[in-house]
Amino acid sequence: MSDKTQSIHGAWSSRFAFILAATGSAVGLGNIWKFPYITGQNGGGAFVMVYLFCVAAIGVPIMIAEIMLGRRGRQNPINTMQSLAVEAGADPRWQYMGWLGMVGGFLILGYYSVIAGWSMAYIVKSFTGQFFSSDAGDIKALFDDLMASPIQQIFWHTVFMLATMQVVMRGVQGGLEKSVRFLMPALFFLLLILVAYAMSSGGYEQGIEFLFNPDFSKIDADAVLTAMGHAFFTLSLGMGAIMVYGSYLPGHVSIAKTTFYIAGADTIVALLAGIAIFPLVFANHLEAAAGPGLIFQTLPLAFGHMGGGWLFGLLFFVLLFFAALTSSISIIEPAVAWLVENKDLQRREACLWAGGACWALGVAVVFSFNIWSEHKWFDKNLFELLDYLTANLMLPLGGLAIAVFAGWKMKPAHAEQELELPAQGFQAWQFLIRYVAPASVFLVFLHVLGVL
Ligand code: PFF
Ligand code: NA
Repeated sequence: MSDKTQSIHGAWSSRFAFILAATGSAVGLGNIWKFPYITGQNGGGAFVMVYLFCVAAIGVPIMIAEIMLGRRGRQNPINTMQSLAVEAGADPRWQYMGWLGMVGGFLILGYYSVIAGWSMAYIVKSFTGQFFSSDAGDIKALFDDLMASPIQQIFWHTVFMLATMQVVMRGVQGGLEKSVRFLMPALFFLLLILVAYAMSSGGYEQGIEFLFNPDFSKIDADAVLTAMGHAFFTLSLGMGAIMVYGSYLPGHVSIAKTTFYIAGADTIVALLAGIAIFPLVFANHLEAAAGPGLIFQTLPLAFGHMGGGWLFGLLFFVLLFFAALTSSISIIEPAVAWLVENKDLQRREACLWAGGACWALGVAVVFSFNIWSEHKWFDKNLFELLDYLTANLMLPLGGLAIAVFAGWKMKPAHAEQELELPAQGFQAWQFLIRYVAPASVFLVFLHVLGVL
């Protein structure tokens, strides 16, 4: 298999290390911040069902494909796609997919870092007891203050970008691997505490009902697109992040099994976050569709009222920061790998360039929450525009390209060799990657365009 070649950046020390890093990439703000708020905006249960279907039928097969392409190509996504296209006798322009991913990463990190900054600001708020005995109005005022302050947001966004660059500079083994080992289980444990609190909040039944009782009349084409886009976003698919991580993966590791672990962990964390948050929404008569501020307006209520809440709040936002960090390093890694491999930069310089560009974009995103909030394109401010463009359009497009390439262009014998699946498993994957995944993405796009 592919263990004869190795990426110049080194390799994961083991399969477990890869699972940790890829899970670190997947589990992040997407699960804890984004999943609850878009579920709230899109009416709950039916949206959650569509999202779960997309994870299973589109996300899982595409994740298998993306890891496989990365491991076979062993380079940054642009070179990987180019060399795999040559190997398959396909058009070398498949490399443009790698470009799409790099641009996508830049656009995503531009806002991801700002939101991660919010969670850092909340570390301090927990520690200084600002949630203590507060009611929903006080908690909302805290969040509104942060939104109104460009200085505070830029400060935390800067700290977060520096942290990201610091980790990425240290490279695959030193930086990316170690950060995840204890943090994921700890985050999981804190979510369980929050779920336990939610059960006693008085809104538990209503919260569960909202999350899991589907009412399909509540969703339209755009909601379906958002659910599908989120499946890509939450699994880090469609922009080369998982592909680069795959390029550091030793041969003879079962890609399919690994994918089930990653997707499973990601889904569980998202659902737990939803189960922790919606009961608070209903118990406190809050707005489920409150938008990007939802977790910041709900969870502090729990921390402000439970015993030792300042400590749990502190730990929670610290862990959220680390979850965001293990994702942000994967968002920027394709660009860094490309700058090092193709532009002959030192890893350090590459981090400075890529990080600097994302930082500048992030400053503009901060302004979209206050002084530029009235500047709109297609009725969206800059944050909303970037989110829509990347999660709803670029990632599904990138995923579609991965599915078509892995399913139709690559020689089936090569895919079989990489995946080492039993015959039935391989056929199932092939069916999903050739037909189900591309057709679903395509149909959802047509539906949104109003063609269907
Ligand atoms: N999967 C991450 C999350 O859910 O927070 C976000 C993300 C990481 C998106 C890496 C895209 C990516 F390439
Ligand atoms: Na995720």
